[in-house]
Amino acid sequence: MNHTSLQTIRDEHATLAAMLRSMRMLVLRGPSDSPQQFFDVLRAMLFYIDEFPERLHHTKESELLFPCVLRAAPALKDTLQRLDRDHQLSEKAVRELQHLLLAWELLGDSRKEAFVTAATQYLDRYQDHMELEESVILPEAEKLLTEADWKALDAAFKENTDPLGGKFPPDPAYDRLFTRIVLKARGNSGPDQRAI
Ligand SMILES: [Fe+2]
Ligand SMILES: [Fe+2]
Repeated sequence: MNHTSLQTIRDEHATLAAMLRSMRMLVLRGPSDSPQQFFDVLRAMLFYIDEFPERLHHTKESELLFPCVLRAAPALKDTLQRLDRDHQLSEKAVRELQHLLLAWELLGDSRKEAFVTAATQYLDRYQDHMELEESVILPEAEKLLTEADWKALDAAFKENTDPLGGKFPPDPAYDRLFTRIVLKARGNSGPDQRAI
């Protein structure tokens, strides 16, 4: 069955996974001979993640999807609690990363390792998180949620991307920001690294 809310979540995961892959490659490669562009691209990526998935995607999952899944499959309580906890922790973690990146940029290489370690940990955790949602939560939702659940979810996802009151309405600015990051990242990494 084709549920638009489920498709939205999968589409957002795909976009985010591409961004995270690109970020991992940039971090591994380092600033090389264009540090300004390197820091600009990473800063824009972290800003995008803070603005979009951390505030919109996670909120939709925690507030709309997870309660339906918990009702239909109480045995998944621990898994859902872990995913909810991830949402809370990763919002803090992305802010911390922005600070650590600035420290590296402004204070120099003595602060590089702290950023690289934290960024790698963040990327690993985020990847695990999305894999768990894709492999356990979404298939269970597809199997167990009722038509009434899907009707409510699809309507909520379609009409209001922010269930907490429209504070962050759908905004083409996110698309523009994402496009700029892609272009800049390609410019920074050269023709051989088409991460996104
Ligand atoms: Fe999530
Ligand atoms: Fe997700």
